[in-house]
Amino acid sequence: MSIKRFYWLFLLVIVFANVGSAQKPALIPYPNNLVTKAGSFDFLTLTAVSYSNIEFKNEASYLVSGLLDLANLKAYSCFSKKIKSRSIVLKKDLKIKHTEAYSLTITNNQITIKAASPKGLFYGIQTLLQLVANAPNKLSVQCLSIDNDHPQFAWRGMHLDCSRHFFKPEFIKKYIDLMAAYKFNYFHWHLTDDQGWRIEIKKYPKLTQIGAYRAGTMKGHYTAQQFDSIPYGGFYTQSEIREIVAYAQNRHIEIVPEIDMPGHARAAIAAYPELSCTGNQVSVGMKWGIEKEVLCPSPFTFQFIDDLFAELTQLFPGTYIHIGGDEVLKDEWNASFFCKELMQKEQLKDAIELQAFFMNKIEKIANKYHKKAIGWDEIMEKNSQTNATIMSWRGMEAGIEAAKNKHAVIMTPIDFCYFDHYQSKNATEPLAIGGFTPLEQVYEFNPCPDSIAEPDKKYILGAQGNVWTEYLQTPEMVEYMAVPRLCALSEVLWTSHATKKLGYSDFKIRLIAHQPYLNKKQIHYAKTFLINEADKK
Ligand code: ACM
Repeated sequence: MSIKRFYWLFLLVIVFANVGSAQKPALIPYPNNLVTKAGSFDFLTLTAVSYSNIEFKNEASYLVSGLLDLANLKAYSCFSKKIKSRSIVLKKDLKIKHTEAYSLTITNNQITIKAASPKGLFYGIQTLLQLVANAPNKLSVQCLSIDNDHPQFAWRGMHLDCSRHFFKPEFIKKYIDLMAAYKFNYFHWHLTDDQGWRIEIKKYPKLTQIGAYRAGTMKGHYTAQQFDSIPYGGFYTQSEIREIVAYAQNRHIEIVPEIDMPGHARAAIAAYPELSCTGNQVSVGMKWGIEKEVLCPSPFTFQFIDDLFAELTQLFPGTYIHIGGDEVLKDEWNASFFCKELMQKEQLKDAIELQAFFMNKIEKIANKYHKKAIGWDEIMEKNSQTNATIMSWRGMEAGIEAAKNKHAVIMTPIDFCYFDHYQSKNATEPLAIGGFTPLEQVYEFNPCPDSIAEPDKKYILGAQGNVWTEYLQTPEMVEYMAVPRLCALSEVLWTSHATKKLGYSDFKIRLIAHQPYLNKKQIHYAKTFLINEADKK
């Protein structure tokens, strides 16, 4: 072959390779079994969204408003078996076995989403909305087929700490929308901590009258020990909670409320000092870190928790209550005559066993209200009796050990899943708690590594990103820290190994092309991934 012909052939290969990569849809999480086809579906000025099964009514309306919000495309939904030309068809298909699965086909004449359940259909709709929002020409989308796309993990969680900083219901809904867009299905709502109690409980009104407000807030890092004296607080009324729960249900997200106990409970103790072993009046916490105040394992405390769960379970219809259990200082228990006597009576050797006793009692109360308990991994310490689902946060080891002992496990290891850590080493990053968890590290996370024995793998339900808010004062800051790390985690949890093997570089190319979607959703995401190599370790 002459040099000239070789040169042209080489150019052709490059051009086709680029066309191929440019055509790869900017979808996150990337679907399994996606094949692009020639041609495009061009939207009419008014598009019909028809559904032939009444179960899909809500999803059809959701799609209609999504098309308008994200692409200014006008559509209407209709219950009909007749298929109109150039319409979107939502079909029930019981051949699709997985309840979260969907298939999506785009031809010149039709967009069809099939699923066995509204939840699967909802995920197909999310995929379509991303395609429409990211399409270079918003009136048309490329033809393709996605067959039986479904998640790798059942637990695809995001957490938000609303104690350290309080976020209004409108933002909680936006956060839920963000989760839904990336096919997350559990919202872990951290509602109580030392620095503020955020949920109205009718039987204990002082929890919010007193516990929801602090006199000031720590400024800068812990070591500086500086505070402002600006009163800070807020809480969710029960009617706001009901509205948020319904909003999440419509988006196939279960809310898991967390009442952190027996540590991280200073705000509750400020409201009801009789909850502690000392009975001392304390104020709601102003500084970050771990406080010495803990709930006393007394009949008063257990009755309080029972009353609390009675109201909580009326508000949250889901399967779980998170009962905390992390970072419990034992000084007050060790100094307490009441605890000494209790430990003797219950034959508990030390305060760690006393904590196991405490957590097991709470777990039983949760079970009495037909809820399963989830706890941070400390709840397994010297505790052979718990049946709780373990949230492994101090690393993967506790989760691996829990799976060995046949506990359900949610992986949230601090090195991969804490989105309050710095995401780059740029000097311009806003003040954060510390740590370093760049986007690539999140993307490379494997919640179920091969070090887990094959029979134990089924106990790993999935993983969750945690957004602690000591240093996140505003919704924009939460979005900046959560996105795009949340996008990377969605792919860890949804996309199969076989599909994901193109790796972080492929994800990054898609993320760059995916920005119109984030912009249309008005997400204040971190753009670190656009800065040359700055997101590398
Ligand atoms: C935690 O980060 N203290 C669970």
